[in-house]
Amino acid sequence: MNKNFNEVVFSGVQPTGNLHLGNYLGAIKNFVELQKKMNCIYCVVDLHAITVFQDPNQLKNNSLETLATFIACGLDFKKSIIFNQSSVSGHAELAWIFNCVSRLGWMNRMTQFKEKAGSNKENASVGLYVYPNLMAADILLYKATHVPVGDDQKQHLELSRDIAQKFNHDFKCKNFFPVPEPLIQKNFSRVMSLRDGKKKMSKSEDSDYSRINLTDTEDEIIKKIKKAKTDSLPIPEKIQDLKNRPEALNLLNIYSSITNLKVEKTLEEMVGKDFSKFKKQLSDVLVSVVCPIGRKIKDLKSNRSHLVNILNEGSNKAKKISNENLKKIKEIVGFIN
Ligand code: TRP
Repeated sequence: MNKNFNEVVFSGVQPTGNLHLGNYLGAIKNFVELQKKMNCIYCVVDLHAITVFQDPNQLKNNSLETLATFIACGLDFKKSIIFNQSSVSGHAELAWIFNCVSRLGWMNRMTQFKEKAGSNKENASVGLYVYPNLMAADILLYKATHVPVGDDQKQHLELSRDIAQKFNHDFKCKNFFPVPEPLIQKNFSRVMSLRDGKKKMSKSEDSDYSRINLTDTEDEIIKKIKKAKTDSLPIPEKIQDLKNRPEALNLLNIYSSITNLKVEKTLEEMVGKDFSKFKKQLSDVLVSVVCPIGRKIKDLKSNRSHLVNILNEGSNKAKKISNENLKKIKEIVGFIN
C-alpha cells in the first residue's frame, strides 16, 4: 500500500511501567494498523513521565519495556520512526516556545491536571501543569497531521490545535503548523477495570485482578477472567440491555475488540449464554493474543543492546525531521541561528 506523504501520525506512550490490555486495545493495536497506511512516529515520552517523580533506574527500565512492548505488539522500526523523547532536544526547545504561546487561561481549563494534582495542587510539579504544551510540541515538531487519541487526551489535542493556530496567527505564517486531527478508533469502547465496569483499566488500581497485563501468564489470565466481576443474567440480544450492566458490557467489548468483531456481532453469537461459559471463550482468545506478546516482550528485554540500537536509529531519523522544522521555527520566532 502506498503511503500518503502529506499525512504524518504522531503518538506517545508514557514509560511508567507495565502496559496492560487497555493500552494494547486502546492504542498500540491501532498504531500497528496505522503504520500500514501512513507515516507514523511513535515516541516513548520520558519527558512526560518525569512530571511525577520517577526512580532513574526504573525509568530506564520502563522506557526499554515500553519499546519492547511496541515491537512485540507489531510495530516495525523500519516502517515507523520509534524513539524516546528525551533523545531529541527539539521537543523541549519547542515546548518552551509553546509555553510562551499558550495562555494561562487555557492551561487552567485542563481537567487532567486537576485530577492528577488532586487536592494538593500547590505541591504538583510545574511540569505537570504545562505538560499539554509539551504534548503540542511533540506533535507539531514533526508537523503531524493526525493523532490517535483516547478520550483522556482529547482535551490536550484540542489545546495543540489552539496552539498551532495561535502560533500561525501571531507570527503571521498561515498554515505553517498543520492543525492536527484526532484519529478516533472505530468500533472501540474503552477497556474498563475487571473489578468495576465504571472505572478505566489502569495500572494504578491497587488490585492486579482489575487488569490483564501484557506480560501475564496463561494461568494469570484465566484466573483474572474467572474472577472478573459480572452478574447472574445471561448474555442479552441487544446492546441496550447492557446499559445497567457495565461489567458484562466490558467483557463483551474486550472480546469484540480482540477478535475484531462489532459488539452487535458478538451478541448475536453469544446470546443466551451464561457468563461462566463466555468467560472460558474470552480467556481462550486473550491467552492466544496476549501470551505471545508477553513472551516476545520478555525475549526482547533480554537483549538490551538491540533495544538501545532501535532507539538510536529512531532518534536519528526523528532528529533529521525535527532539526529542519526547528530551524524554520526559530527563524519565524526571530532567533539568530
Ligand atoms: N499525553 C499522552 C498520555 O499521557 C502521551 C503523549 C505525549 C502523547 N505526547 C503525545 C499522545 C503526543 C499523543 C500525541 O497518554
